Amino acid sequence: MSKAKTFYVTTPIYYVNDKPHIGHAYTTILADVLARGHRLLGQPVHFLTGTDEHGLKVQQAAQKNGVTPQEHCDRTVVRFQELWQKLGITHDDFIRTTEPRHERIVQAILQDLYARGEIYAANYEGWYCVPCERFFTEKDLIDGCCPDCRRGVERLVEKNYFFRMGKYQQRLIEYIEQNPEFIQPSFRRQETLGFLQKQPLGDLCISRPKARLAWGIDLPFDPDYVTYVWFDALVNYISAVGYKSDQEQFARWWPASYHLIGKDILTTHTVYWPTMLMAMGLELPRTVYAHGWWLLDGEKVSKSKLAAAAAKDASAPADAAPAKAPSVNPMAMADQYGVDALRYFLMAAMSMGHDAEFSEEAFVNRFNAELANDLGNLVSRTVKMLHGHCGGILPAATAPGPAEEQLLAACQQAVRGMTEGIEKMQLDRGIAEVIAAVREGNRYFDANKPWQLAKEGQLERLAIVLRNTAECLRVVSGLLYPTMPGKMRTLRLTLGMAEENAEPVMHKLSSWNMLPDGAAILSLPTPLFPRIPVAAPQAAPVCGRKKPAPAPKAAPAAPATEEGANLITIADFSRIELRTAEILAAERVEGADRLLRLQLQVGQETRQIVAGIAQFYTPEELPGRTIVIVANLQPRELRGLRSCGMLLAAKHGDQLRLITTDGSIASGASVG
Ligand code: ME8
Ligand code: MG
Repeated sequence: MSKAKTFYVTTPIYYVNDKPHIGHAYTTILADVLARGHRLLGQPVHFLTGTDEHGLKVQQAAQKNGVTPQEHCDRTVVRFQELWQKLGITHDDFIRTTEPRHERIVQAILQDLYARGEIYAANYEGWYCVPCERFFTEKDLIDGCCPDCRRGVERLVEKNYFFRMGKYQQRLIEYIEQNPEFIQPSFRRQETLGFLQKQPLGDLCISRPKARLAWGIDLPFDPDYVTYVWFDALVNYISAVGYKSDQEQFARWWPASYHLIGKDILTTHTVYWPTMLMAMGLELPRTVYAHGWWLLDGEKVSKSKLAAAAAKDASAPADAAPAKAPSVNPMAMADQYGVDALRYFLMAAMSMGHDAEFSEEAFVNRFNAELANDLGNLVSRTVKMLHGHCGGILPAATAPGPAEEQLLAACQQAVRGMTEGIEKMQLDRGIAEVIAAVREGNRYFDANKPWQLAKEGQLERLAIVLRNTAECLRVVSGLLYPTMPGKMRTLRLTLGMAEENAEPVMHKLSSWNMLPDGAAILSLPTPLFPRIPVAAPQAAPVCGRKKPAPAPKAAPAAPATEEGANLITIADFSRIELRTAEILAAERVEGADRLLRLQLQVGQETRQIVAGIAQFYTPEELPGRTIVIVANLQPRELRGLRSCGMLLAAKHGDQLRLITTDGSIASGASVG
């Protein structure tokens, strides 16, 4: 296998002292989706994550808890390891910077650089930020405070060791200019270039006197010092793949394809690290990709932000808004909504490279719209009809005809979109293409009306429609597999794929009719993505209404003329609130031949209406239609089910047709 074909992806090694939050989960899930995506493309993959365990904060926390720093790390590293296990992360290696395999290599590098004069001793005088563990010059400070965290700094003079970073400034500028893929997205590349071109690059202080900080890797050439935590941490990317210990392994994986990082650690990765590599005589990673931040109310999600949210909540009155903190705790989110839903949201909702606001509401809305509604419904109606009309056996493949043209085109577009998404770091766009194919699948289903074909006995055509919908779902399940491995595996097995084919390969996804003829379709006892109920904003007698209707002005009595006896005034009519509603899901009500239970989207809210239309419509044909409902009818119970409103339908003899809109319009629109 040629070296260019291997894929080596890394995450930052997280501070073991931090509680993992949604930001850490994001980078790691992103790396996992890419790793799984490249496996799907048939490339050998190596995926590394780990923890950064040295430094003052660990030393202080250990002291506070009365344990050794190593004991403290051993206890806290588990939080990350358990979270990754829970989130289905498929890393090949987990490196801890306190492991001998890492410490040995850091020392070997230091010794070598010192021997070659790349590291030298000098007196250092400067400003030091304790929480950030960084020195700053006078002009770096902002209002006398740390430019990064804005906290106070201390004046320090001491002997230290320095890495000759400054001498690589010009070479680094040229490298960045000549290798546009080295720093991505391109606006981050500009940021680093701007920084490098603005001022002379100083040398980097890479030591800490043990008197001040003992918890680090000893400098091999001076026992009174430990290594600066960043000079230690960055080395993990090469120590973990055999640098100076396993030449064959190192040659196989280095240079890394991607270092994935958040924009907070851009300078360390695009200035410190490449100059360190230059001094070592090593190739630079192909791409450092700095993504944006998840924000909470406009601020970066961070440990301190979480602590603040929790504290604020603890002191808040009992009826105040619920805590923000749990919704950004990835463990809690995964428990509540499922691992795959969380992975999907994080990948689909952040436009790659940019910041994104995190909210549980956005999470629920996207889940309900794209997974429960678009994908979930297509799955459930296809599977139900395959059982109802084909005995649960997948009909044999036939050559796709003109009716299938659009469906095939959408699926091929999804394959291209996701391949590009994986190769060019545009997963959000890849996912959007796949959801577009799902919508096309729903459109194909609606346009071909398999329920009607069944009624009319056109069984051959019915088999073709269901087979093609199943093929669409096969392609979709493969493309979304890296993002939602658990659910997509279930879907693939449901579609009759053998266990050994559950894991997809890309070249099969770009072909049609790959499901085995006659495969046994499994049944889905529960929906793949059950809708998340959304509480109506007000628990008023009138379900889901935001505002009470304006009190009608005293209506003048209807004229007592004969023709007027049956007339109402505008004021009377205006008391009835008619709205458009999109049918999200429909199902039969057990033991009631006439009733269907509908889930409707009405603007921002969802509601349930139980309607007597089961003799006129099958549940499969309804999702996606926009109908008209009376929104302010008193709710009532039908067969123990709450029905909030009434839908409008035209009746003639034994015919009934729903009132729908002439063309598409948003749900919740007023009708009148
Ligand atoms: O910086 N949004 O570790 P760290 C998105 N140990 N991603 C976020 C985020 C947010 N709000 N908050 C954190 C360190 N992250 C060093 C790294 S690497 C050799 C050493 C993610 O625990 C993002 O990837 O502070 C960010 O770069 C990383 O967590 C920082 O993790
Ligand atoms: Mg941080």
